Amino acid sequence: MAEPQTRYSGISIMLHWLIALMVLAQVLLITGHEATEGPLSRELVQIHKAVGLSILVLTLARIGWRMANPAIALPQAMKGWEKVLARATHILFYVALIVIPVTGWLASSASGRDISWFGLFDWPLLPVGGGREAAGRFMDIHELAVKGLYVLLALHILGALKHHFVDRDGVLQRMIPFIPRRP
Ligand code: HEM
Ligand code: HEM
Repeated sequence: MAEPQTRYSGISIMLHWLIALMVLAQVLLITGHEATEGPLSRELVQIHKAVGLSILVLTLARIGWRMANPAIALPQAMKGWEKVLARATHILFYVALIVIPVTGWLASSASGRDISWFGLFDWPLLPVGGGREAAGRFMDIHELAVKGLYVLLALHILGALKHHFVDRDGVLQRMIPFIPRRP
C-alpha cells in the first residue's frame, strides 16, 4: 500500500496531543465535580473553566497554524467518501472545540459568575445578560456539543485504528511519529 509522503509538523503534533489530553482532563474534572460536594467540587469547576478557556485559545492558535501551513494529502488509496468523512470530522472537531468553551464562557457570563484563570487573573466576561435562564440555555448547547464531540472522537479513533491495522498506510505515524511502522 502506498505510503503518504508527508507528516505533520512538530507544532501540529504537539497541539494535537496537548489538546486531546486537556479534553480528557475536562471530562475527568467534571466527573470529579459530580462525585464530590462542597469547596472541592466548586474548585474542580473553576479548574474546568480555566482549562476549557485554555483549550479555546490553543484551538484558535491551532487553526491559525493549520491555515498558514499547507494541508497534508490523505493517502491516495482512500476512497472519496472516506476522505470526505475524515476531513469533515477534522473540521467539526475544530467547530466543537470552539462552540463548547464559548458556550461555557457565555453561560458563566450570563449568570455573572467571575472566571479566574488558575487564580492568576480574572478572565473577562462576555457582555451578555439573561441570568440563570440564559445560562441554562447556553449549558444545553454546551452539553449537546460535548455529545457531538464524543461521536466525532469515536469515528476518529475507529478511523485511526483502521488506518493502522487494516490499511497499514502510515497515517497513525503522521500523528505519532515514534511508533514503529508495521511491515
Ligand atoms: C473544550 C472545553 C470543554 C469541554 C470538553 C467541556 C466539557 C464539559 C462536560 C463533559 C460537562 C458535563 C456536561 C453534562 O453534565 O452532561 C461540562 C459541564 C460544565 N462546563 Fe464545560 N467543557 C469545556 C469548557 C468549559 C468552559 C470554558 C466553561 C466556562 C467558562 C465550562 C463550564 C462548564 C460548567 C459550568 C458546567 C456544569 C458543571 C456542573 O454540573 O455544575 N466548560 N463541561
Ligand atoms: C479529544 C481528542 C482528539 C481530538 C480533538 C483530535 C482532533 C484531531 C484533528 C482536528 C485532526 C486533524 C488535524 C488537521 O489536519 O487539521 C486530527 C488528526 C489526527 N488524529 Fe486526532 N484528535 C484526538 C484524538 C486522537 C486519538 C486518540 C488518536 C489516535 C488513536 C488520534 C489520531 C489522529 C491521527 C492519526 C491524525 C492524522 C490524520 C491525518 O493524517 O490526516 N487523534 N485529530
